[in-house]
Amino acid sequence: MTGTASRLIGLTSHDFCPSRPLVTDWGAYLAEFHGDRPGITETLLGRSVGPGDVEPYHWLTRLVEAVGEGLVVDLACGSGPAADQFSRWVGLDISSAELGTARAAGRGPLIAASATAVPLAAGSASVVLAMMSLMVVDDPPAVLAEAARLLPPGGRLAVLLPAQWPLNAWDIARYGLLLAALGQRVTPFPHRDVSMRLTDLLDHAGFDVTTDDQARFGFPMADRSDSDLLVDALYLPGVADRRIGWAKAVAARWGHAPMGLALRRVVAVRRLDTDQ
Ligand SMILES: C[S@@+](CC[C@H](N)C(=O)[O-])C[C@H]1O[C@@H](n2cnc3c(N)ncnc32)[C@H](O)[C@@H]1O
Repeated sequence: MTGTASRLIGLTSHDFCPSRPLVTDWGAYLAEFHGDRPGITETLLGRSVGPGDVEPYHWLTRLVEAVGEGLVVDLACGSGPAADQFSRWVGLDISSAELGTARAAGRGPLIAASATAVPLAAGSASVVLAMMSLMVVDDPPAVLAEAARLLPPGGRLAVLLPAQWPLNAWDIARYGLLLAALGQRVTPFPHRDVSMRLTDLLDHAGFDVTTDDQARFGFPMADRSDSDLLVDALYLPGVADRRIGWAKAVAARWGHAPMGLALRRVVAVRRLDTDQ
């Protein structure tokens, strides 16, 4: 699927044509975004339902299993939505607000650090998770290199990313309306192309892909708080508050049909050969 509708959630859009420049300090924007609304990604995705009535985190994590004493290291864990699914889970994030939300939910252990410099021993994980994060971290190849360092040969990396398809016609129309209200052609932030490059990036980091598929999840739009949440969950650096208000007003008029979110899951295995 192509077109303006896909580009709003097309954090992975193949063409790069932002209607305004990227913010110069993406890190500061990201810190403020997650400081203001910790846990918002889990709030959005955790209520979204996809194939087999499963939410996106389980859709991904049911494909991987912790092995032996190996940790499950969740890079850029946010509020830690996968914590309850593994007994040897460790979450890492740079946002103290996100980590605070995880801690308040009883999730841990937690590490405040960058996913590009993980203070854990090489080979200490049997599973590494990178959920809804590779498109926003400052250096995706460096994060994948850390994942490769943490995993022994045969270890699994599980990645969740926004995608452009599948969506239905009503989803596409609604994303088009949101884009128009926001005055955007695409969402302007770094690494929107990471999904397109993911197979190459994984190969370069020493991984072989074993699963790669996409699905549509429906986010329930019962009332105004849901449509507001949908807009608030978007990274919109440089977009004026009045535009965001217009987008919320537009979304509030859509009725109750669940909003489609297209997501991609990729599982990759750490190669025996560590040469890259
Ligand atoms: C969209 S949220 C996803 C959170 C969680 N993985 C989820 O799926 O709900 C992106 C997360 O990446 C974190 N993040 C961004 N850059 C990071 C980095 N270099 N190291 C660690 N965390 C980072 C943010 O603080 C935020 O919690």
